[in-house]
Amino acid sequence: MPFIQWNARYSVGIKEVDTQHNKLLGYINDLHDAMKTGQAKDVMGTIIQNLIRYTTTHFSLEEKLLSENNYPAYLAHKKEHDDFVRKVLEFQKSFQTGSTSLSIDMLNFLRDWLLNHIAVSDRKYSSYLNEKGIK
Ligand SMILES: [Fe+2]
Repeated sequence: MPFIQWNARYSVGIKEVDTQHNKLLGYINDLHDAMKTGQAKDVMGTIIQNLIRYTTTHFSLEEKLLSENNYPAYLAHKKEHDDFVRKVLEFQKSFQTGSTSLSIDMLNFLRDWLLNHIAVSDRKYSSYLNEKGIK
């Protein structure tokens, strides 16, 4: 069983966003597998880099949809994204310099943050964007 299992309650009702969320969760699963099977540091480093790159791509899409449609809580939503990226970049830096290793605590943090953000903050914009024809 994967570390994170997709569930219908994580759907935001927008096809492309759901696809991207799935892909993000997939990177966290990859990272979990890499840790569990004792992969080399550079393998984990590559997954972390891919996760960060894809996270920023994904946040850009969401922020574009929200700002273009004058979503009232756009700034608060963007701040959640920015805070998360900052935190993951800090982790990446300490991982690279060797002061932190990949731990289950870090994986739990990534999983919990993402699932909570999707289920709470992202789902809040669902009906707003759906009503604007974005599905
Ligand atoms: Fe979001």
